[in-house]
Amino acid sequence: MTSVANVATFDPYDYAFHEDPYPTYAWLRENAPMLHNTDDDFWALSRHEDITRAVREDGTFSSSMGVSLDPTAWGPNAWRTMSFLAMDPPRQTRLRALVSRGFTPRRVADLTPQIERITKRHLDAALESDEFDWIKSFAGKMPMDVISELMGIPESDRDEIRRLGDLTVHRKDGVRDVTPEGIDAALTMIGYYSDLVASRRRTPTDDLTSALAAAELGKDRLSDEEIISFLFLMMVAGNETTTKLLGNAVYWGTRNPDQLMSVLADPTRVTPWVEETLRYDTSSQILARSLLTDLEVGGQTAPAGSKVLLLLGSANRDDAVFPDPDRYDLDRDTSRSLSFGGGRHYCLGANLARLEATIALTSFVKQVQSVEIDHAAAVRVHSVNVRGFSSLPMKVQVRR
Ligand code: HEM
Repeated sequence: MTSVANVATFDPYDYAFHEDPYPTYAWLRENAPMLHNTDDDFWALSRHEDITRAVREDGTFSSSMGVSLDPTAWGPNAWRTMSFLAMDPPRQTRLRALVSRGFTPRRVADLTPQIERITKRHLDAALESDEFDWIKSFAGKMPMDVISELMGIPESDRDEIRRLGDLTVHRKDGVRDVTPEGIDAALTMIGYYSDLVASRRRTPTDDLTSALAAAELGKDRLSDEEIISFLFLMMVAGNETTTKLLGNAVYWGTRNPDQLMSVLADPTRVTPWVEETLRYDTSSQILARSLLTDLEVGGQTAPAGSKVLLLLGSANRDDAVFPDPDRYDLDRDTSRSLSFGGGRHYCLGANLARLEATIALTSFVKQVQSVEIDHAAAVRVHSVNVRGFSSLPMKVQVRR
């Protein structure tokens, strides 16, 4: 699919658009850098320059209504499940600083042996057969187990937590919002996290939940509610995005066999493989903001109060920044990719996502000598929040 899908209105729920959003993005960047969709009443920014400004500039672009296009997730209460992702300074600054006392780069780095263990468990099981589903057997399991490990969720509860997490983010075909099952799952999860926080307050361990319960800045500390909504945010922000990154890497790798061969021949090339996949087809394509003031772009004015979409996936293909942007090229400079956002909301889990992807994919390419994906049988998820696959049938030849 290389056509430009319904550009006049630009419908982010359109399946044709999901199939290949990039021709639409290119058209938008060229012809309508701030498009107004009157049906769903949003504006969309598509150029790298405008999106960089939007994530960095204070005082114009607010996250206080949430950052998702979905109606249920949009409104002044978005912070209840999205924590500081759905806040502006000074509330966001305070919470992010407190959480950062517990969620440190050191804690992430120290997780390496556990991530290796989780990777080994799921990968060994998958590689027992030379044909399996990359998402169902591996990529869909590993990130949630890593987050559970970080939070201190016992192994015996992890399958259930993964099931609830999947229900929370799953969208039914043609339905534009969170499903009732998803809402039930989210409530069950919040109950589970409340018990976890209460137990760590009574008896601290060395997990992140205990560190958050103990975190302080001066006399300021996190309340139970604040910790719970952060745990919930991590599950939503850090699970599906990483699963989809792992899927997109093998999908685009196998679509560009010369690039994948170079990684199979030299596993240190996993780092540029991960970075180019993040640029080329990032799992978090669209962020929303509400405008605090009028905004003028390309001769159009969006009034204060409007909902503005930041098309990160489009920014990453802007030829003003990335030469020959539609080429998947592991040797290019990806340093200006906007896959993890930027500015004050820059992804807090970027280090963790990179560490997980590097460990998982390195372990994978060290164990296999060839990889094939049945591209025609790949199943794409139709979500406005994440881009990637729910099924990727894979055939491998294990190294002898
Ligand atoms: C490939 C994987 C990932 C991608 C593409 C991704 C993408 C993003 C993006 C674009 C933002 C900025 C949102 C905004 O500006 O409104 C963000 C924020 C965030 N991400 Fe990630 N993320 C990934 C993995 C993770 C992981 C593994 C975690 C944690 C376990 C995580 C936790 C967060 C948090 C807490 C925020 C909110 C930061 C703030 O509002 O100050 N992310 N992520």
